[in-house]
This record gives sequence, structure tokens and C-alpha cells, in this order.
Amino acid sequence: MKQTSIFLTGATGAVGSQLVQQLSSLNIGFKALVRTPEQAGQLNKLPNAEAIIGDLAEPTTFEHALTGIEKAFLLTNSSEQAESLQMGFVEAAHRAGVGHIVKLSQFAADESSPVRFLRYHARVENRIRELGLGYTFLRPNLYMQGLLAFKEQIRYHGQFFAAIGQARVSLVDVRDIAAIAAVALTEPGYEDQIYDITGPEALSHYQLAETLSHVLGKPVNFIDVSPAQMEQALAGAGFPEWQIGGLIEDYAHYAREEAAAVSDAVARVTGRNAIGFEQFVKDHCFLL
Ligand SMILES: NC(=O)c1ccc[n+]([C@@H]2O[C@H](COP(=O)([O-])OP(=O)(O)OC[C@H]3O[C@@H](n4cnc5c(N)ncnc54)[C@H](OP(=O)(O)O)[C@@H]3O)[C@@H](O)[C@H]2O)c1
Repeated sequence: MKQTSIFLTGATGAVGSQLVQQLSSLNIGFKALVRTPEQAGQLNKLPNAEAIIGDLAEPTTFEHALTGIEKAFLLTNSSEQAESLQMGFVEAAHRAGVGHIVKLSQFAADESSPVRFLRYHARVENRIRELGLGYTFLRPNLYMQGLLAFKEQIRYHGQFFAAIGQARVSLVDVRDIAAIAAVALTEPGYEDQIYDITGPEALSHYQLAETLSHVLGKPVNFIDVSPAQMEQALAGAGFPEWQIGGLIEDYAHYAREEAAAVSDAVARVTGRNAIGFEQFVKDHCFLL
């Protein structure tokens, strides 16, 4: 095992679960913060992984494990608490002498954005810089894997919804985000860099539906809905109010086609092409 001193948060989530697999298969050791003994048991089955049980809301539960860490990966879901959880981690990392934070942010992060997710990400980025920590900010665009939230709708009703109209988005596969994170955490040369991370092309949701129909061999339709209809659907699915507001703002930003630029970060950092949407569907067709 290569001896490194890496600490991960968000290891059980969409990006983090890919990242732990990739680090483990590269034979690179890491510690990862998880919240339950069950998650720790699962993680510790991976070669080179060491689970630390704790909670970002309680820095005393993980601070001890940051001593001697060179690089940390910071990710939480976008909840109303995300900013304070991430700020708490940044302060704890600074106190412990962590040298570098690889922060999972979002495409177009900006303190003056009308999208609350983009504002909080920018505030955390700025705090990391203010404290003088080394940083790599990963700013991915919309996740392809987000479509899996519609897997039942696609499988049984051949449809999926969003308030986005004809706008194109350069959506990205989370496996590519994890691959960039793995490089930034393990190799030199990524200090004080910001990466917009996108897929290989910008596609409208109607184009996504065409690819789904073609690969799955059955008709799949995209239904453009109003923001009010989307809000109602998210409320019906039990999303918290803050998050619903954020998703509505996010989709208005996509609908203005502000997230259609294509970046070459995946190829530049990993040396291979970004995963395209057709490949994503082929790899997940057993779910759809
Ligand atoms: N979805 C998109 O299209 C998209 C696009 C660009 C950027 N992003 C950004 O991506 C991030 C979400 O990434 P993701 O989808 O990989 O996340 P995710 O699947 O929602 O996972 C969130 C992770 O954070 C952990 N976590 C949450 N609260 C915690 C706490 N109090 N203490 C310790 N761990 C905690 C969760 O642990 P548990 O398993 O214990 O809950 C889980 O491992 C957000 O910041 C979002 O803004 C998303």
C-alpha cells in the first residue's frame, strides 16, 4: 500500500463511493469519516480504507483523526446545514495543520449567484483561501447519475421531468469527478487550482430522452414542466423546503443555458476522455 495521509468526507455518497473504490484499487490508503458503525463496517472491507466514525456537525468526533493529514476531500450534500458543516470542517482542518483541501463545489459557484447552492459553495471556497490552506476546487456540472432518481418513472412510464425547457447542459458522470478527485488527492501539481468538470458535450433533456430511447430500445419522453409543477413534485417527494428552493433556482440557471460550456478537465487531469451520456445509459441500463 502507498502510504499517504488522505482524509475523506462524503465517502458514502454518489461521488464519494466512487472515490473510495478508485483510491482503494490504486492501492492508496485513506481515512474516511462515516456516521454509523454499519457504514464503517462496509468501508473497512475495502483494502486500504480506515473508517472514522463521527459527524461533521460535531468536530470533536473527527478532529483527532486529522492530525498528520496532508490532503482532505470535502463534500456534503446540499442541505440547509451544508455551509456550516463545511465551514466547521475547514476550521478543524486548519487547526489540525491539514495542508490542502480538495473541495467538491459546483459549476458556476459564485457568492453573488441567484442560486443558493452556488453561493454557499463560493463562501466555503473563499474561507479555505482566506485561511491560506492549499486548495483544489472541483466544480462539476449537473450529475448524469441524477437521472437515476427517475429510474422507476423511466422503467414503468417511459418518462422523466424537469423545469428546463430546451436548454442544453454539459452534464457529467460522477465517476469522472471521482477520478479527478483521486488525482488531485494523490499527485502533486494540483495546488491552488479550480476545475470546471463537465461531460464531453452539452445536451438538452430532449436529447437525453432520444439517447435513452435508443439505448433502452423503448420510447422514453422528456416532459418539460413549469417551476411550480416541479416544486409541487419535490414537495410531494418529501424534499425539505430549503432544498426545493435551491433546486428551483438551480434549474432556472440551467434553463437560462448558463451551464452549457464544455470543459476538457477530465481529459487534462486523467488522460482519458470524459464519459458520454450514451455510455452512462449503457452502464446503468439494468436500473432503467
Ligand atoms: N447533484 C448534482 O447534479 C450536483 C452537481 C454539481 C455539484 N453537486 C454538489 O455535489 C454535492 C453532493 O455530492 P453527492 O451527490 O456525491 O452527495 P450525496 O450522495 O448526497 O452524499 C452526501 C455525503 O455527505 C455525507 N454527510 C452529510 N451530512 C453529514 C454529516 N453531518 N456528517 C458526516 N457526513 C455527512 C453523507 O453521509 P451519510 O451517508 O451518512 O448521509 C454522504 O456521504 C453537493 O455539494 C452538491 O452541491 C451536485
